[in-house]
Amino acid sequence: MIEIYHLYKQYSKDVLALKDLNMVIDRGEFVFLVGASGAGKSTLLKLLLREISPTRGNIKIFGKDVTRLKKREVPLYRRNVGMVFQDCRLLEDRNVFENIAFALRVIGASPREIRKRVPFTLELVGLKNKVFKKPNELSGGEQQRVALARAIVNRPSLVIADEPTGNLDPETSMNIINLLQEINIRGTTVLVATHAKNIVDYYQKRVVVLEKGRLISDQERGVYFNAD
Ligand SMILES: Nc1ncnc2c1ncn2[C@@H]1O[C@H](COP(=O)(O)OP(=O)(O)OP(=O)(O)O)[C@@H](O)[C@H]1O
Ligand SMILES: [Mg+2]
Repeated sequence: MIEIYHLYKQYSKDVLALKDLNMVIDRGEFVFLVGASGAGKSTLLKLLLREISPTRGNIKIFGKDVTRLKKREVPLYRRNVGMVFQDCRLLEDRNVFENIAFALRVIGASPREIRKRVPFTLELVGLKNKVFKKPNELSGGEQQRVALARAIVNRPSLVIADEPTGNLDPETSMNIINLLQEINIRGTTVLVATHAKNIVDYYQKRVVVLEKGRLISDQERGVYFNAD
């Protein structure tokens, strides 16, 4: 599903954010990406999403080299990738329903499909009773669940989350990861960058550790790696 070969990202002369990264993530895997602040986690996720381009190396996703996609091919590629950010990035002037429906409208879904998919997805994330609330009427955890619903509503093959529990208490964080796990069980490949040691240790998934831009550990059923 994801194949990364000799990936380098140099932002400037003295900032080499990723150095010779190699890894393969198979379809259906659940992977935690961990490492200290500045290790290169977000850089890697942005490269996977094609928000930025690498200095060297290749990334193959769904069998295609995303580093070589033409600008006009990028939106089509992203349709198959759900993305969740720490800061939710919801539309503040739209209610929950509209925030999720928006993700379907941009891919040209029919009104009928929208009426079906949005309630189904809200049920999945446990927010059926908040359909007509605006983001500022929701708690941080609820907003994050809306962001998750938006990321998965068009049934992407891959979900990438960058610190999706960054601002949440431990219980709500577990709730979000449980949801990602459910999505994963339904067949979606999930990649989560996180600092939450307790979560990584609890779930016993594959753990990939970055340190100063290098992959220093990759373990099945791993625990949070403490480089100190
Ligand atoms: N747009 C940018 N321009 C220049 N340098 C950048 C840019 N984005 C990130 N960096 C640098 O690249 C390195 C990796 O940053 P990155 O954001 O990938 O780290 P991270 O592992 O996500 O950290 P955090 O846990 O704090 O989110 C850091 O040294 C950072 O300062
Ligand atoms: Mg980051």
